[in-house]
Amino acid sequence: MDTPLHVAVLLGSTREGRFGPVVASWIRDHLDRRPDMTADVIDLVETPLPTVFPELGRPPASDEAAGLLAAVSPRMAAADAFVIVTPEYNRSFPAALKNAIDWHNREWQAKPVGFVAYGGFSAGLRAVEQLRLVLAELHAVTMRDAVGLQAPWAQLGPDGTTPNPGGDAAAKAMLDQLAWWGRALREARAARPYGM
Ligand SMILES: Cc1cc2nc3c(=O)[nH]c(=O)nc-3n(C[C@H](O)[C@H](O)[C@H](O)COP(=O)(O)O)c2cc1C
Repeated sequence: MDTPLHVAVLLGSTREGRFGPVVASWIRDHLDRRPDMTADVIDLVETPLPTVFPELGRPPASDEAAGLLAAVSPRMAAADAFVIVTPEYNRSFPAALKNAIDWHNREWQAKPVGFVAYGGFSAGLRAVEQLRLVLAELHAVTMRDAVGLQAPWAQLGPDGTTPNPGGDAAAKAMLDQLAWWGRALREARAARPYGM
């Protein structure tokens, strides 16, 4: 078998009392059970990023900012594929997640991105649709099937492992697409660097 795909799981919520880690733990469990994938969870609370940007094309202005980026950027560069775990905030996705996206460029290019979204009535899917537009600008490829968990606080236990058959089937569909695109794009990048 091929080398397993290395998947960075980007946890987009940073709110105190957030539910996001339960959802991240749930999808991490799915990834850990697959022989074709390995996972690295990037939690923007554990590794926060600066919010003041340098001039375009310049490095971070301070050693502190460079240090914060050094805890995240190499992990994103090492990823063959991404899973973004996002809540829906005001019909969109959280500002901390946009900040993490904007700090990076080549790290996203020609790589597949899957989504696990959660929220109220809309199951977070309005956040996903906006993320698709943003990631198109970064030459990333978004997976058709997203996971949308409606009010997951009523479905998942604190360890994220409570059985959830509908969500489990959706997670498998999304990760199967990510596996196909991840392998195809890894081979393509190796044969011909993308570098747009
Ligand atoms: C600022 C804010 C805005 C929200 N806006 C929406 C929304 O537009 N649609 C929705 O379904 N849920 C919305 N919610 C509910 C969140 O989806 C829900 O609280 C979720 O648990 C947030 O993720 P977190 O706990 O990881 O921060 C909002 C929550 C917050 C804090």
